[in-house]
Amino acid sequence: MISQAVLGTSDEDEVFDDQLPRKMQIKSSVHFTPVSVARHAARLLAPRPGMRVLDVGSGPGKFCVVAASEVPGCTFVGVELRPHLVRVARQLAARMSVANATFLDGDALELDWSEYDAFYFYNPFAEQLNGKSFALDSKMELMPSKFLRYVTATRERLARARMGTRVVTYHSFGAPAPTGYELAETCPAGTDHLELWIKSAESGVETDPDR
Ligand SMILES: C[S@@+](CC[C@H](N)C(=O)[O-])C[C@H]1O[C@@H](n2cnc3c(N)ncnc32)[C@H](O)[C@@H]1O
Repeated sequence: MISQAVLGTSDEDEVFDDQLPRKMQIKSSVHFTPVSVARHAARLLAPRPGMRVLDVGSGPGKFCVVAASEVPGCTFVGVELRPHLVRVARQLAARMSVANATFLDGDALELDWSEYDAFYFYNPFAEQLNGKSFALDSKMELMPSKFLRYVTATRERLARARMGTRVVTYHSFGAPAPTGYELAETCPAGTDHLELWIKSAESGVETDPDR
C-alpha cells in the first residue's frame, strides 16, 4: 500500500522526467503518472506472469515504462493518438532497455480490447472537456462532444470484457466502471485517486454511439 505522501511527484519523477523532451517535462506533473503511482498500479493490474495490460492514452510512455520495469514478467502496451508522443515513448523504452513496454500509434477505441487482461486510465479524455488551457499541446483538435463519445465507448468495451478483467484508474476515465465490476481497492484508502476494479459478474448492456 502506498501512502498519501507518495501519491504526488518526487525526486524519482525529476530523474525520470529529465529524459523527456523539455516541453513535456513541464507538463509531466499534471499529465503523466508519478513514478510511485505507476509502480503501485502495475502490481494491481498485473498480479500474475504473462498478463497483458493496455494503457489507454499512453502519452510519452511514462506509465508503461515504469510499470514494465516493475513487473518484468508482464507486457504493457500503450496506445496514443499523438504520433510524436509515440515516438518519444519508443525511444524512452529503448534507451532504458525496457523490452516489455511497446507502443501503438492511433485511437484506443479502434483497437481490439479482447487481447488484454487489464486496462489503465489516467484521465485520458479530460483534455476534450477542459479545452486549450489544460491541453498537453496544441496538436489535437479538442471537442467536448468527443469526451462523452470516448467515455461511453470505454464503458461499452469494459462491459464486453471477460470475467476477471482488471481496471485501474488514476483520477478516473470520466465515469464509473460499468456494472459487474467490483471496487477491490482504493488508494489512499477511502479516496478515488487510485482505484482497482475487477470484473466479477456480467455487465449490463452499454451502448457505444459509434457501433
Ligand atoms: C493524461 S495523459 C496520460 C499519459 C500516460 N497514460 C501516463 O499516465 O503517464 C492522456 C493521454 O491520452 C491521449 N489520448 C486521449 N484520447 C485518446 C484516444 N482516444 N486514443 C489514444 N490516446 C488518447 C492523449 O493524447 C494524452 O497523451
